[in-house]
Amino acid sequence: MNVFYKIRMMALRVALVSGLLTGLQLSADEFTEKELQGWTSEYQIVVKEGRQHFASPTLGTNGVACAQCHPNAANTHPETYPKFQKQLGKVITIAEMINWCIANPLEGERLDKNGKKMTALITYITEERRGVKLDPGKH
Ligand code: HEC
Repeated sequence: MNVFYKIRMMALRVALVSGLLTGLQLSADEFTEKELQGWTSEYQIVVKEGRQHFASPTLGTNGVACAQCHPNAANTHPETYPKFQKQLGKVITIAEMINWCIANPLEGERLDKNGKKMTALITYITEERRGVKLDPGKH
């Protein structure tokens, strides 16, 4: 356990106790309309970036794009992750499955799982499945 984590936990405990003592309830942060609009537009920019990567052959080396096999992110099923994937023989996140498709059908280089391109791809795929119930582990 690192020291920053300990300090944060300590601060949380203090906040919780002082909240209880003064009879206050812990409530979720409230955001201004301006903040919400700003964050939504940041989000939409990343969705758009993801859609562009998804439709572009530049992630691979053989001229193939994700969208050729998965039009509009069809059959990507982000709501079923994490799940056991037989190709990898273990439980994986959607990022690992995306890298599998980049390395195999696209014959490309795996992306940094925390990088900008991977974030954009996951954001786009997940946006396309908005409203679908989370069902991790499903086949
Ligand atoms: C040549 C066709 C092809 C291309 C191109 C392709 N995929 Fe796939 N993809 C597949 C197949 C086949 C599977 C199913 C593998 C399985 O689950 O057995 C799959 C599975 C997936 C899954 C998991 C689906 C699930 O139900 O678990 C994701 C996510 C995914 N692909 C994303 C991508 C992304 C992102 C790209 C582009 C980088 C891409 N794919 C490119 C054929 C392709």
